[in-house]
Amino acid sequence: MKYGWFDDQNFEYVINRPDTPLPWINYLGNEAYFSLISNTAGGYSFYKDARLRRITRFRYNNAPLDSEGRFIYIRDDASEKPCFWSPTWNPTKIPLDSYECRHGMGYTKVQSKYSGIKSDITYFIPIGHNLEIWDLVITNDRDEPADLSIFSAVEFCLWDALDDATNFQRNYSIPEVEVVDGIIYHKSEYRERRSHFAFFACSEPLAGFDTQRENFLGPYRGWAAPLAVEKGEAGGSICLGWQPIGALHIKVTLKPGEHKRIIFVLGYHENQEEDKFDPPNSQIINKKHVKPVIARFLRPEEADRAFSTLRAYWMDLLAKLQVNTPDVHANRMINIWNAYQILITYNFSRSASYFESGIGRGMGFRDSNQDLLGFVHMIPEQARDRILDLAATQFPTGGAYHQYQPMTKRGNHDIGSNFNDDPLWLVLAVAAYLKETGDWSILEEAVPFDNQPGSEKPIYVHLQKSIQYTLERLGPHGLPLIGRADWNDCLNLNSFSNTPGQSFQTSTSKDGKIAESVFIAGLFVLAAREMKAIARRLGNNDEVDGLERSIEKMGKAVLTAGWDGEWFRRANDAFGNPVGSKECQEGQIFIEPQGMCVMAEIGIEDGKAQQALDSVQKYLACQHGIVLLSPAYQKYYLHLGEISSYPPGYKENGSVFCHTNPWVMIAETKIGRGGQAFDYYSRINPSAREQQSEIHRCEPYVYAQMISGKEAGKQGEAKNSWLTGSAAWNYVAFTQHILGIRPDYDGLRIQPVIPSGWNGFTAVRKFRGVDYKIQVKRIGKGNNLQLSVDGTPISGTLLPIPASEVAEVNVSVLIR
Ligand code: BGC
Ligand code: NOJ
Repeated sequence: MKYGWFDDQNFEYVINRPDTPLPWINYLGNEAYFSLISNTAGGYSFYKDARLRRITRFRYNNAPLDSEGRFIYIRDDASEKPCFWSPTWNPTKIPLDSYECRHGMGYTKVQSKYSGIKSDITYFIPIGHNLEIWDLVITNDRDEPADLSIFSAVEFCLWDALDDATNFQRNYSIPEVEVVDGIIYHKSEYRERRSHFAFFACSEPLAGFDTQRENFLGPYRGWAAPLAVEKGEAGGSICLGWQPIGALHIKVTLKPGEHKRIIFVLGYHENQEEDKFDPPNSQIINKKHVKPVIARFLRPEEADRAFSTLRAYWMDLLAKLQVNTPDVHANRMINIWNAYQILITYNFSRSASYFESGIGRGMGFRDSNQDLLGFVHMIPEQARDRILDLAATQFPTGGAYHQYQPMTKRGNHDIGSNFNDDPLWLVLAVAAYLKETGDWSILEEAVPFDNQPGSEKPIYVHLQKSIQYTLERLGPHGLPLIGRADWNDCLNLNSFSNTPGQSFQTSTSKDGKIAESVFIAGLFVLAAREMKAIARRLGNNDEVDGLERSIEKMGKAVLTAGWDGEWFRRANDAFGNPVGSKECQEGQIFIEPQGMCVMAEIGIEDGKAQQALDSVQKYLACQHGIVLLSPAYQKYYLHLGEISSYPPGYKENGSVFCHTNPWVMIAETKIGRGGQAFDYYSRINPSAREQQSEIHRCEPYVYAQMISGKEAGKQGEAKNSWLTGSAAWNYVAFTQHILGIRPDYDGLRIQPVIPSGWNGFTAVRKFRGVDYKIQVKRIGKGNNLQLSVDGTPISGTLLPIPASEVAEVNVSVLIR
């Protein structure tokens, strides 16, 4: 069953009923001011940091779900009995005569009709500004005039979202607002240590306003039926403590067929500390700087201009790679939604979604490094900055803070370090950056350790430390020690946590000298191969030799201590016993080492790679994707940690953890099985799952972290959509390994491994300032390639770097 459809022409997903299985959301903003918005205009807004600078409130796991956000009510003032509805369905939930939500690139439109009154609302954030526009057009489709009241409202958050939700003894007293010239300013704590405030304004003269929540709603009433809306009159309340809101009331009379455009602007502004008050030394906000900005975006022509700029901005980003394959689902994911999701994860890592409350985690070290693999071609300059930020949170040992706070860019002390895979991802990120841009100067950029001034060292040294970090932490079998966890945060082999509420990751109770990770071994080989390639190009020959020896040694350790007979083992626990082995009762085989070791090309020569991938197919693959492990743990194992705390089939305990599936897809292409790779790709492609939206439940246009697996109570149900490493990795697997359009240090490589049933594909890829027009044709069933550049055959798969004046290159590939 579907709840909408893909409008690929317009780069939109169209939802045609408001009661989707879960809120289906979109993200607005991509610089400093951000909003999450659902298909019924729920959600919240913040400036830079969802925890520290939250602008509007949102209550997670509330009932009904998603009932806070951007409230709009339309009231029929001529009706004898109170008659009002919400044009976005929420929060009144009055059944609308028609409803359509279009989530697009950086904007959301909701169009609906009720009782002959049509409304079209576009929500977006103008590029370069810290505000969101709600652009409402209201049309009277009745045969008679309509007397209407429009109410709009937001509930302000007292900036620190965690404090706002917990520190009530203080927070019921501090809220303050100003209402001047029809604009509501939320200024809690402005008189003391803050110099920022929020504002809510409207393009029309106000009939009234409210800023105290309970005055607007009426005591003991909710957002579904505010008293002010019922009465048709706001009370002009000025909030003194309690719950600050911004509610605006406008009256309009529309002739039959007439329409009216009303623009609301909700935003954030910072004043200079010395210039906070006007008059100086008063306690009144200085509005000199913000007023022109508000006035500007309340003008329809400015709103239109800002919207066109936003459209162009996204079209330009997406144009970096456009593909046309025989598969419609792949096309729309790669050309539109997957790329878009990657840029959202670039902004937020795992910090702000409907599932990550935005108050817990900052930017993940391993997460952001992996996200970069998917966004580096779209925004290389920002990728460069991100790499520098990440490297600055590395310790002198090469280890890294697991997370950092986006506003301060400082490592997060609560979670600390010792996730032993973390540093290696930095090597992959820098390698991807070099391959995309050819900008080798990044390696010389001096960046501190743990943000300590004076400790600056070139990025290249940071990479060396990352490699060293693993080599200095090897276990009894020569495999890397796992530390608190590796990529799988829930494999906590040194934790032995037996106290409720304890963090599985930080409550280490073993010395960590025994438990080893085969996954990190694979990741090490992959990263060390890149390091070797980089060192070779820098002419560091001794280092190249050293790396070669380490790669060989680690590969051997994997193929001996890490090999179980039919697949790669996952780890050795703190007693030296294998995890992910047929010797185990549960958790006999895990996905991660099969994908990662084969990606690192371990076992390809002697057939172990193929054997491991055959085992994936046999033991882990199901119709909803490839599960993380099998059989799932049925009970909690002290020595394994959080992984066995989840019910079987969920999360790390045997769900289809979507992040890991593309590793297997890439691995399949390494042994030439493009058909199998594409089959796995399609099983978890959200668009390909759209038809079963009632089972999948999450948005059909973005990846979710997990889909419940074959041992789950309810199979095929997705959870935790949007902020997941699945976005970048699925994109990389499909575009770089199945389609084979892969940046390399010395140019662009084209090495497709496509299904035998495909007759080919075309693509346009912008790479280092050149447009590559790629045409691939299958003329046989194998993977043998013949490339031609502008009509001339070349040998191999690496395209020669064109002369500097060349702007376009035509590449044709024959596969036989
Ligand atoms: C996992 C969660 C886990 C968390 C711990 C995440 O990576 O997906 O299941 O609770 O780490 O911080
Ligand atoms: C989500 C975390 O953000 C990521 O870092 C981790 O690798 C996966 N979960 C798996 O545990």
